[in-house]
Amino acid sequence: MVSFCLVGIMTGAQPLNGRVAILPEPVKMVQHDGFFQLPAKILIEAPADAALQPTLTFLKQRLSSPTGYSVSVSAQAATAQIRLVLNKTADQVIGKEGYQLLVTPTIITIKANEPAGLFYGVQTLIQLLPVSIESDVTVAGKWQVPCVDITDYPRFGWRGLMFDVSRHFFTKKEVKDFIDQMARYKFNLLHWHLTDDEGWRIEIKSLPNLTTKGSKRVDKTGYFGAFTPPLPDEPLNYGGFYTQEDIKEVVQYAKERFVNILPEVDVPGHSLAAIVAYPELSCTAGADKYRVRSGEKIMDWRGNGTFTALVDNSLCPANEKVYTFLDKVFTEIAAIFPFEYIHVGGDECAKNFWEESDAIKSLMQKEGLKTMHEVQSYFEKRVGKIIDSKGKKLIGWDEILEGGLAENAAVMSWRGEKGGIEAAKLKHEVVMSPTTYAYLDYMQGDPIIEPKVYATLRLSKAYQFEPVPAGADAKYIKGGQGNIWTEQIPNVRHLQYMTWPRAFAIAESVWSPKEKKNWNSFVQRVEQQFKRYDIREIKYSPGMYDPIFTAKNNKGQLGIELATEIDDLTIYYSFDNSFPDKFYPKYTGMLTPPKDAVMLKVITYKGNQPVGRMIAMPLDELAKKAGLKK
Ligand code: ACM
Repeated sequence: MVSFCLVGIMTGAQPLNGRVAILPEPVKMVQHDGFFQLPAKILIEAPADAALQPTLTFLKQRLSSPTGYSVSVSAQAATAQIRLVLNKTADQVIGKEGYQLLVTPTIITIKANEPAGLFYGVQTLIQLLPVSIESDVTVAGKWQVPCVDITDYPRFGWRGLMFDVSRHFFTKKEVKDFIDQMARYKFNLLHWHLTDDEGWRIEIKSLPNLTTKGSKRVDKTGYFGAFTPPLPDEPLNYGGFYTQEDIKEVVQYAKERFVNILPEVDVPGHSLAAIVAYPELSCTAGADKYRVRSGEKIMDWRGNGTFTALVDNSLCPANEKVYTFLDKVFTEIAAIFPFEYIHVGGDECAKNFWEESDAIKSLMQKEGLKTMHEVQSYFEKRVGKIIDSKGKKLIGWDEILEGGLAENAAVMSWRGEKGGIEAAKLKHEVVMSPTTYAYLDYMQGDPIIEPKVYATLRLSKAYQFEPVPAGADAKYIKGGQGNIWTEQIPNVRHLQYMTWPRAFAIAESVWSPKEKKNWNSFVQRVEQQFKRYDIREIKYSPGMYDPIFTAKNNKGQLGIELATEIDDLTIYYSFDNSFPDKFYPKYTGMLTPPKDAVMLKVITYKGNQPVGRMIAMPLDELAKKAGLKK
């Protein structure tokens, strides 16, 4: 190593000089004085490995589009300024996905054991360059890379995002863009939720009705869950599905970015689209009259997590045709998805229609099943055998624990952490995606400003995601993922808004060492990504800048406290209905509204810049929260 001066081991606490801001935070990073300056003729040396070509295409594009520089790649180039090296002898520390990145004033070297590691090293390199490296048009820039010595590798092998394309359909191009965005932050797994009550989205050649009938529904706009039921004469004007050729293309696209795809077919509940296609799969007479759900109420939810179905959206475990059907589905799925797991759903299966079914009663008698949970467990075990026969492993939502877990089944813990802890105790593999930290469909701020969803998950809470829950043996925890359900996500811009920045929090939780996580550093690094997203025209939520309102009963009067998730923000407010700015009163402590005031308006600033959104909060709302009439 050369004689540059050591500045210090980065603790993850501060991006130095606003330049070194890697997300997710690397395992070990030492910054040195000095820079590597991109030359106008960039020569990259890289092994002629087919698996590396998409990485090189990406690197070439990023280094040339904004700079206007020429970039060439050669398998042997003694004068190369950027070298990508596949280690001849594996470095045990960095494993399959890790890399080492050394930047000196004269050369950039990325070393890895496998192409995936070089891909991640390249992602880090791009983050070391100024944010305008994201531009697709030539821009003036000082194209310097700070001198660093990085050793980096993931904490978990399963670093996922779940993307629901059933509730709303997203095109093949939109799915590919989503994969591009994930891979930048070293996610390596797309859990593709392909079927649900609102649409069956994958072509199954032996079961054509699944897509001819099951992929379309009546389009509705408003609050999903409260739509009017579709009428027989309303047109089926919303939908879409992927052909098997589409799927193969997306799988290949993901593979080139070192992303595996986990397909999910959600059974036996959440199966209304399949039942519309093949009504004989239901235990219930009259299923032939069902329609694919638009978003009308089909479940009665009680506060304690129990529910009953208003239409029978479950497959019938007592019907042999169901297993023949699933065998066909999983045969075709197994043939086009190379990933070793298939997700079979298992969540939120209502049992009230099963309770009414004579076929279920005789199944219970024949098989000695005592409860409806045991009926579902019987179903899951049979599905497990089908998955097994296709050479794949089964993973399901944590309900598959109820009534007895199928042999070798992996569990995805979503109803908090308890399912994951229980499955790990049973020595089953676990993926953590608890609602508490990882549900990216939840609101990111106050319901007064966010599109309404039934729960809230702020960025700071998502950042607390710790994939190994207390009480679980870490050996069984494969990793974690964020889940993006799309009931209330009608388009791709809103998908981006809901995903980012919370998926940054998930990325760091599954990649970086636990002790490297640091909220203040994370926020600064998120802000660097926001600049990049502005250039890349990817939407994100600015919710972390918006205040948190707390309403109090202050001796019979409404008292309002405001707080922010992040430091160094100033909140300005008004009670007179006009729009506050930095010339308005600054929030310093509990507010008591003037007697006849009706509205509190607030906005947050960082220095001289408004960063939060103008929020108009009716005082009636706050009074209600405080248990006051006002
Ligand atoms: C789920 O959120 N129903 C898995």
